[in-house]
Amino acid sequence: MTLALSALAKKLKAEGFDVVTLTAGEPDFPTPFHIKRAAIKAIEDNFTTYTINAGIAELRKAIADKFKRENNLSFEPSQILVSNGAKHSIYNALKAICNKGDEVIIPAPYWVSYPEMVKLVDATPVIIRTTEENNFKMTPAQLKRAITKKTKALIYCSPSNPTGIVYSRDEIEAIAAVVANADLYVLSDEIYEKVIYDGTEHFSMGAIPAVNDHVITINGVSKAFSMTGWRIGYLGAKKEIVAAAEKVQSQTTSNASSISQHAALAALIGSDIDLNAMTAEFLRRRNFIYDAVTSIKGISCIKPKGAFYVFPNVSHYIGRKVKGKTLKSGDDIAQYLVDEERVVVVPGSGFGAKDYVRISYACSMQELEKAAERLRRGFAKL
Ligand SMILES: Cc1ncc(COP(=O)(O)O)c(C=O)c1O
Repeated sequence: MTLALSALAKKLKAEGFDVVTLTAGEPDFPTPFHIKRAAIKAIEDNFTTYTINAGIAELRKAIADKFKRENNLSFEPSQILVSNGAKHSIYNALKAICNKGDEVIIPAPYWVSYPEMVKLVDATPVIIRTTEENNFKMTPAQLKRAITKKTKALIYCSPSNPTGIVYSRDEIEAIAAVVANADLYVLSDEIYEKVIYDGTEHFSMGAIPAVNDHVITINGVSKAFSMTGWRIGYLGAKKEIVAAAEKVQSQTTSNASSISQHAALAALIGSDIDLNAMTAEFLRRRNFIYDAVTSIKGISCIKPKGAFYVFPNVSHYIGRKVKGKTLKSGDDIAQYLVDEERVVVVPGSGFGAKDYVRISYACSMQELEKAAERLRRGFAKL
């Protein structure tokens, strides 16, 4: 859905329309200079051959150090698998643990790829519906109710795409208490860990001793270091899981790009100056677009604590008529906004929440100002 909308926006732009695109799932900042330099040096030094399947030793050590330093997770470098983006890490992990007929629990709104990847490994997604009133957070009771004999895993992300919510340490501990009494894995997707606001703290479920063997921690360099195109993600887990996921990777893609691995190493051992500047700018934009969206009549929206999306509830406008056609869902509203105002947002249905749309603020402030004006006008006409 996200990519389809981005493609539509590009097409309209190519046709000469003045389109504002709020669909980006990636930071709009260049990769920091010292990371690019490390990649150039890797090429010049001829690090251009296959590497060990699981990733070069220096990078796996840097990841293990990062996990210890920032997340209180204890992994040997041999418990780290470097892959072609966190997306690939998630797929490798699911492929490693799931058998046909297994169930994987996913709280909605979810990242679009989770249910699809679960289906690709012949397992069945089991969706937990969270509510806006509960800040889109799954409760321990909901999780408990969703667990059956067939449950293999839970997959969740915090900070969340699409809602921007962040589970607190207490909330994660309460969920972990359910996990500790059940036979399931947890895929903890922490890709937006660094894009976090208002003094909110990120907490890794794997740091809880009672469940650390259950948790597969997923992360990567795409969002924190503006490195989406470099395709480096990683997971840390107990040895058997890493060994199985490594086999999957070995027979499908082999190692992630040797050059990108050197770039990721520079990212993980380098300074956070660029990251801090990026999150400061994202915070400014979040405040702007959040205020703009919530000032529109009938729209409610949770104030995001992380990532770079707002996820407004547009149900107030569902049922309105435009040119004789009834807007039946967030999908129709997204289409209306493209047709009438040339502003592109992603419908919530792809995230399992049809009354919502996702707005990415990974675009310039000028674009956001233009977008705010068009959204205000578009909804006012309804
Ligand atoms: C929640 C979530 N997990 C994982 C990913 C994948 O990131 P990567 O670029 O590392 O594959 C994304 C990218 O949009 C995401 O939003």
